[in-house]
Amino acid sequence: MQSDVERLLETATRDIAEAQGSSRALEQLKVNYLGRKGQLSRLFKQMGQASEVERPIWGKLLNEAKEQLEKAFSIALEESKKEAQKQKPSFDITVPGRRSLKGRLHPITQVVVEISRIFNWLGFEVVEGPEVELDYYNFEALNIPKDHPARDMQDTFYVSDDVVLRTHTSPIQVRVMEARRPPIRVIAPGRTYRCDSDVTHTPMFHQVEGLMVGEDISFGDLKGILTIFVHQMFGEDVGLRFRPSFFPFTEPSAEVDIQCVMCKGQGCRVCSQTGWLEILGSGMVDPEVFKKVGYDPEIFTGFAFGMGIERIAMLKYGIDDLRLFFENDLRFLKQF
Ligand code: DAH
Repeated sequence: MQSDVERLLETATRDIAEAQGSSRALEQLKVNYLGRKGQLSRLFKQMGQASEVERPIWGKLLNEAKEQLEKAFSIALEESKKEAQKQKPSFDITVPGRRSLKGRLHPITQVVVEISRIFNWLGFEVVEGPEVELDYYNFEALNIPKDHPARDMQDTFYVSDDVVLRTHTSPIQVRVMEARRPPIRVIAPGRTYRCDSDVTHTPMFHQVEGLMVGEDISFGDLKGILTIFVHQMFGEDVGLRFRPSFFPFTEPSAEVDIQCVMCKGQGCRVCSQTGWLEILGSGMVDPEVFKKVGYDPEIFTGFAFGMGIERIAMLKYGIDDLRLFFENDLRFLKQF
């Protein structure tokens, strides 16, 4: 009997070692050795043939063997479970991934980038100026006298008697001319402020200013540059016209209209049935402005222009409500 038990333990140990790592094989082996009809049970049954004296010795031997086998199986099963856990991927590769939110540029910024690209290509440099501006640069140096209607408290945010939130980007013209000598070719985009708020006006809006000064810059240059700009911005087939106008800081002055982008010049609600849409103000720099910055108007000439960026963006993208730009509704912003 003793050698039977020893042989059984020996083969069991070998079998367990071979099955190591596979829980299923181990479970099967456990049944083979320890199950009710297993090999150990068979030896227990043979105890009936033993003598009175031998029986307790056999019993002890078999019980010890049983204990030993149970322990071996439980260790091996535990090990293989741990092993299986390690090999399992720690995430489920079939779960759909989480979308990372991609940022994008605000349509106003996109239009600024586009305008800058076009004018860079035409040799213009992008410059900036302060949003909190001296009355002098915002008005005085631009030939806007003290009693001009544009200075009305209703339009201008005054910070103090001689400091304002700039009402347009035109003061940058003056700052650039003060700091440099011609030739000058700059554009200056930025935020502007007016004490005005309704469906078509917001207290803060954006403009871009342009300035070109040299020794023989003519109205023809103004027309050429602005025509190229319009064609780049809105398409080669969009017609434009220069309409006489007035600004204190330019003489002569002209406003530029483009053919209505909604009705292609046929006349509609957007263009008030005229077929035209005003997009910018422009003109030859007034000699009074040159004098303020110390340029001799007999030597230098130049042109300037200014436009509202929200308006350009609305026309370019067919947006009919100004307020959409400022509400930051992602459903709107995502479309650009
Ligand atoms: N500053 C003007 C405005 O806010 C726009 C403008 C018109 C700018 C004519 C210019 C210009 O430089 O020449 O309405």
